[in-house]
Amino acid sequence: MYKSVLRPILFRIDPERVHHIVVLAVKLFDKIPGVRRAMIRFTNKPDPSGGVTIAGLHFPNRVGLAAGFDKDARFFNEFSMFGFSFIEIGTVTPKPQPGNSKPRLFRLKNERALINRMGFNNKGLDHAITQLSKRNSKVIIGGNIGKNTATTNENAAADYAACFDGLYDSVDYFAINVSCPNIAGMEKLQDQDSLRDILLSVMKIRAQKSVSKPVFLKISPDLTFRQIDEVLALYAEVGLDGIIATNTTTDRNCLSEKADHYGPGGLSGKPLSTRSIEIVSYICKHSGGSIPVIGVGGIMDKNGAIAMIRAGARLLQVYTGFIYEGPFLVRDINIALKEYFQAFPAGTGQKMPN
Ligand SMILES: Cc1cc2nc3c(=O)[nH]c(=O)nc-3n(C[C@H](O)[C@H](O)[C@H](O)COP(=O)(O)O)c2cc1C
Repeated sequence: MYKSVLRPILFRIDPERVHHIVVLAVKLFDKIPGVRRAMIRFTNKPDPSGGVTIAGLHFPNRVGLAAGFDKDARFFNEFSMFGFSFIEIGTVTPKPQPGNSKPRLFRLKNERALINRMGFNNKGLDHAITQLSKRNSKVIIGGNIGKNTATTNENAAADYAACFDGLYDSVDYFAINVSCPNIAGMEKLQDQDSLRDILLSVMKIRAQKSVSKPVFLKISPDLTFRQIDEVLALYAEVGLDGIIATNTTTDRNCLSEKADHYGPGGLSGKPLSTRSIEIVSYICKHSGGSIPVIGVGGIMDKNGAIAMIRAGARLLQVYTGFIYEGPFLVRDINIALKEYFQAFPAGTGQKMPN
């Protein structure tokens, strides 16, 4: 129904407008008494192994909604009905900012991909805190945080610290986003010294809290393996709890069609999957499976999800796949993972990723 009827209609409209239309429609749908409960009963497929616990936080199933979909924490309650065990809001920056000029989101239908240069459009930290106070679902909330575009890299750590402290009581885990290709110079924040400053500034805040919340680092697929090694060295030094791999890519070689006319931006969806899986696999192998990895990038269906799990990911996130495949993607993946773990309780070629 989604792919044969709804998607062809929605895909005729500008992608950013469709996003607002769909969100509004889901919000209205959710207002019908009993709908959310019925949907959750249909979509909720708990993990047969009892779920995954990372740094004390328990995820009842392995699939989450990646950052950027609910930038302003406006509809995580409603979208929990699609079976996600976690939803990552943001990227949130300290001050509101409009992001880049439009159009800034493009569909590459034949490639099952998107290119975006949104540029951290969001209503800022205070707005996100207010929105999160309206939590009325059990879904786990991740707070994905970044710096304002106008903040220099030298002052970036203060922005991350402000968002971290501000959101601390409102979210269940944090994702430190230093990998957005749409903020000029942000890739430099992944250099060891800059990254150390940012991570230590948030860890210092966490050390003062009575409850310790997991902190994950979200990395770019455009890092070299040498740069990933540097990240892994920092991982233990600062006491991170996991890595989210990956963000969107600036690479266009993974496309079979020319895409120059879209201009700059981060590519997501199917063409990204090979690189994301490669990075997940690299981190898992090099850490002997000790680093919890949240695999994201090009998971378009159950096979993509299983490939990511086989690479060693403990949790998964989807974004572009959700746009292309529709609302029951999460349910389909969870059913497939259930069958997979029943057939291969230890995970094929990998330690049981839990
Ligand atoms: C329109 C759009 C906006 C995004 N915004 C963010 C963001 O604000 N912060 C972030 O960490 N990732 C953002 N992402 C990246 C996704 O979270 C995800 O890492 C990436 O799209 C790869 O997953 P996918 O292939 O399943 O889409 C965005 C992706 C898209 C398509």
